[in-house]
Amino acid sequence: MNILLLGSGGREHALAWKMAASPLTDRLICAPGNAGIAKEAECVALDVADHAAVIAFCRTNRIDLVVVGPEAPLCAGIVDDLEAAGIKAFGPTKAAARLEGSKGFTKDLCRANGIPTAAYGRFTAAEPAKAYLRARGAPIVVKADGLAAGKGVVVAQSLAEAEAAVDMMFGGGIPVSNLGGAGGEVVIEEFLAGEEASFFALCDGDTAIALTTAQDHKRAFDGDRGPNTGGMGAYSPAPNIDDAMSARVMAEIVTPTLRAMKAMGAPYKGVLYAGLMIAADGPKLIEYNARFGDPETQVLMLRLMSDLVPALLASRDGQLKSFDLRWYPDPALTVVMAAKGYPGRYERGSVIEGLDAAAKVEGVEIFHAGTKADGTRILANGGRVLDVSAIGRTVRQAQARAYEAISRIKWPEGFYRHDIGWRAVEREKSPR
Ligand code: AMP
Ligand code: GLY
Repeated sequence: MNILLLGSGGREHALAWKMAASPLTDRLICAPGNAGIAKEAECVALDVADHAAVIAFCRTNRIDLVVVGPEAPLCAGIVDDLEAAGIKAFGPTKAAARLEGSKGFTKDLCRANGIPTAAYGRFTAAEPAKAYLRARGAPIVVKADGLAAGKGVVVAQSLAEAEAAVDMMFGGGIPVSNLGGAGGEVVIEEFLAGEEASFFALCDGDTAIALTTAQDHKRAFDGDRGPNTGGMGAYSPAPNIDDAMSARVMAEIVTPTLRAMKAMGAPYKGVLYAGLMIAADGPKLIEYNARFGDPETQVLMLRLMSDLVPALLASRDGQLKSFDLRWYPDPALTVVMAAKGYPGRYERGSVIEGLDAAAKVEGVEIFHAGTKADGTRILANGGRVLDVSAIGRTVRQAQARAYEAISRIKWPEGFYRHDIGWRAVEREKSPR
């Protein structure tokens, strides 16, 4: 098969690495890709936002399957356009991707179908939003409705902070795109206590199969401090989701969602990524993403024993009913190396050395998140730049391997967290 992968991050490098290993893959092309992906696939400079250009490229290159990595093209309807042109595409349609593109849509779907989630209100103006805040009190969570590149959520500890967030969001203070939902809408939610986990399910419109779980570290600095980021590290599996909890998540959250999406004529295909709060009384949905997580995919792919390509095809073709995927029981962990300044302003173009020596550490795989080749040199070309990933018999071993690899990388312009996986390592020391 000829496969076209869309995207350029560490998630796409991990997907490319796994798909390149499939006996089903003849040609693997990635648009636009990065310096690491270029080792697994041919990288082409295609404008992913130009659907007609992507379709023309698929026809010229006899592409059998398009795999869409990030959410923006999904919410822009690239799967609809490819399928309408007779090209198979993995991922949800525009209508189905509203599960990520509009928080209000997802909250309403949860309410209508009894799916456990935080109590909420939807607002299109600041004054009623503030009245709701005052009635509820802090802590409370304020969210922009549409895609906001991770900048649309404020967990407010005080009423003043919550009101400021409302003013900021209605004042146009964040780059909210209106791809998925109505313009200028804010969702206000009850604050949920508990421990978070990321849960991944593969869906074909009718059937969902649980993949595996992960936990990520969203804050920039050690001790889970500092600004929120796209994710500074992750590990899999999530220690707070055992088989019984996984079955509850499927029965109480994922399956009713799939049923509801089908009933409204927008059957969900692709990866459904549920961000969960595991509370004392059970799992609650924080949010959905319509794609694989980044950096969670990097650890998922290290643990996936089965071939990924038939699974993606079965999702697209509606054939997941009797499908089974196998996973290595060993945990995997990834540490993100980011450019100093991320998630704020940062420089591009610094030189990264020592990657070959780092990759020699046992169990280690280095995925590139934002790099560019310059002859034989590798240059930083993004905020999140490398995902230094490792598998081990324990989280502690995977963690030690990843940090050993990092110690071999020479990149003074970068930084990383030193405590990725701390929660899981603590649990290994004193299991509960
Ligand atoms: P999101 O962008 O929706 O993933 O939210 C970012 C982070 O905000 C989540 O990972 C949670 O840590 C936190 N968060 C979002 N909603 C809630 C909530 N209702 N209660 C507590 N924390 C939340
Ligand atoms: N790691 C969070 C995300 O992919 O949205």
